[in-house]
Amino acid sequence: MTAQLLSGKPIAEAIKAEVAAEVASLGYRPGLAVVRVGEDPASAVYVGSKVKTTEELGMHSEHIHLPADASHDGVLSIVKELNARDDIDGILVQLPLPEQVRDREILEEIDPAKDVDGFHPMNVGRLSQGYDALVPCTPAGVIQILKRSGLEIAGRHAVVVGRSNIVGKPMAMLLLQENATVTICHSRTRDLPAITQQADILIAAIGRPGFIRGEHIGDGATVVDVGINNVSDQDFASELFSEGELPKRIAAIEKRGFTLVGDVNPKEAVERAAYFTPVPGGVGLLTVAMLMRNTLEAAKARRGR
Ligand code: GUN
Repeated sequence: MTAQLLSGKPIAEAIKAEVAAEVASLGYRPGLAVVRVGEDPASAVYVGSKVKTTEELGMHSEHIHLPADASHDGVLSIVKELNARDDIDGILVQLPLPEQVRDREILEEIDPAKDVDGFHPMNVGRLSQGYDALVPCTPAGVIQILKRSGLEIAGRHAVVVGRSNIVGKPMAMLLLQENATVTICHSRTRDLPAITQQADILIAAIGRPGFIRGEHIGDGATVVDVGINNVSDQDFASELFSEGELPKRIAAIEKRGFTLVGDVNPKEAVERAAYFTPVPGGVGLLTVAMLMRNTLEAAKARRGR
């Protein structure tokens, strides 16, 4: 079997076009504030893309960038100011935060109505009880890829590998809401391949490059790779990529020092799976698109449409 690749691009573009069309019809501009603390290079790239896309879709964007030594109280007071502002509908505090800033307290300070990341316990609780909520962007994007690719979720066995608050746990909740049978696996799971092989839908959100191998994948499964890892070792890269793909990856390592790799070994996955989301070009593109949708939904709910 050779898996069909599920490209995130056309799906992300469709969602962004839907959001832009709705924004244009509103008569006001939804506003998204993104708070970034310090100089994490990956965060700088992600935030840049969030700011740019917000503006492209006709929404108001603010980027608040604080130095790496910003105090906990300083970050907290910015969140409070943004909570109080009527023109700001969405607040996102980019993670990770520097050590002195207590992230849980910051996230709990965000007004749940403006919590476009869906990380506030109020939204987490609402999601788990099946009520309307702002839901985390990356797992919401995975659901969109599956649905818009015409892949059935109801009644299927979905196995989520990873239990983070950002992806694994909300992913499991969203799949459950779509009537999948859901199993959550993690670093303490015994005989992982025996469980993941049973998956009709396998979601990899572990944070280790190429961790999911052929032996983990049942024939004909749909494999969704949520990982984003940097790989700089050329020998390791040659274990991950086919002859067709490898030269491009080696060139990237030579030029930039790394290549982007998911949590799944793509060379082995395409031999077993029926459908597979590539990295880059898969789930990652959906995260920003769903953030845009969340910002629009938060604005409509706050402003009575
Ligand atoms: N860091 C990595 N992923 C995310 C995310 O989805 N939201 C925020 N705020 N920070 C992140």
